[in-house]
Amino acid sequence: MPLTRKAYRAAILHSIADPAVVGIEASYEYFEDGLLVTENGQISAIGPACELLASLPSDIQVTHYQDALITPGFIDTHIHLPQTGMVGAYGEQLLDWLNTYTFPCESQFADKAHAEEVAGIFIKELLRNGTTTALVFGSVHPQSVDSFFEAARTLDLRMIAGKVMMDRNAPDYLTDTAESSYVDSKALIERWHGKGRLHYAVTPRFAPTSTPEQLTLAGQLLSEYPDLYMQTHISENLQEIEWVKELFPERKGYLDVYDHYKLLGERSVFAHGVHLCDDECARLAETGSAIAFCPTSNFFLGSGLFNLPMAEKHNLNVGLGTDIGGGTSFSLLQTLNEAYKVMQLQGARLSPFKSLYLATLGGARALRLEDKIGTLQPGTDADFLVLDYNATPLLSYRLKQAKSIAETLFVLMTLGDDRTVLQTYAAGNLVHQR
Ligand code: GUN
Ligand code: ZN
Repeated sequence: MPLTRKAYRAAILHSIADPAVVGIEASYEYFEDGLLVTENGQISAIGPACELLASLPSDIQVTHYQDALITPGFIDTHIHLPQTGMVGAYGEQLLDWLNTYTFPCESQFADKAHAEEVAGIFIKELLRNGTTTALVFGSVHPQSVDSFFEAARTLDLRMIAGKVMMDRNAPDYLTDTAESSYVDSKALIERWHGKGRLHYAVTPRFAPTSTPEQLTLAGQLLSEYPDLYMQTHISENLQEIEWVKELFPERKGYLDVYDHYKLLGERSVFAHGVHLCDDECARLAETGSAIAFCPTSNFFLGSGLFNLPMAEKHNLNVGLGTDIGGGTSFSLLQTLNEAYKVMQLQGARLSPFKSLYLATLGGARALRLEDKIGTLQPGTDADFLVLDYNATPLLSYRLKQAKSIAETLFVLMTLGDDRTVLQTYAAGNLVHQR
């Protein structure tokens, strides 16, 4: 096979550690005039352009960008594919929002043609926004996951998804049974888990929509296959938390329900966690579980403010989630814009380098994929972005005033969105061109 070595020259920035642990200056690497070299879908070198170019054959193909920044692809640790068509549903908080808008919208995925159409739209939207890896909820219908994985496989994307398990407290047209959810999930695991860069996530929607029998079988699936993911929701909304207490009076609290059914672990990602207590954070950290912080959703559904400093105190893995369609943007730049405000409202700060970490390496760590994605380290997948400093007239003008990469980065996260993403590369292939 011919060697497909390519080089990309621009400003280059990536996170290499958590600023909360090592301090801001040691958390990133920045090359003002950098070179990124890729070979057969992986990154083979990164460094100052002048040094690296001298070591490469003179006929290597170099793409040179002006006024642009190369970063790792963004990682969305919580998003719902079948809610693509209902972003911006007016007026309700979580439980009424689910009944009024979400369940009817997800029911359309009983139709395979609809599932295929939305999978295509959804993947295009991820890539337009610079998201190269996502942890994705399907609907209760297995075909929502089949059509997503088929489309992701064609583009050789690194993606994680699962069929929702939901056998109570939802309309009949949208429920499975404990037994059918087990059988259907198992068939999807056999078909997709570990195929190319795809992974499967066992996906009980949240405690209120699963019987104890279904939660038991979710735990059983996790014990039957290595490296499976688990995704669900936790402590998003106060009414939801009260409901969980009524449904599971024998358990100590919301997290204890999942703990009892053996759903915590290193590949378990819990969305929201807005109202977690100190002990629950400690237990999540102890089991290596992660939280998906979903600021646009938490604002839009009036859920509350995620306490990132508390998570940091416990050394808990945190990634960023858009939570489409409770969330209002596919853009992790816009999600970070809102994350900053969540911290401001709690008298705390979110530095641009912590933000970059959350959208890239932090997400990769939450998914236990930091040896493959989330940085631009040689040997990792060539999943990266070219961000355009001149994407809009205001961004262009504003960035001309910026005096440091910290300021540039912060403005990109405040004013940036899908228009900022000039190109998206996955496994070294161009998968989106603005
Ligand atoms: N809790 C249970 N299901 C959902 C969902 O679809 N979205 C959000 N934001 N929370 C949930
Ligand atoms: Zn969600």
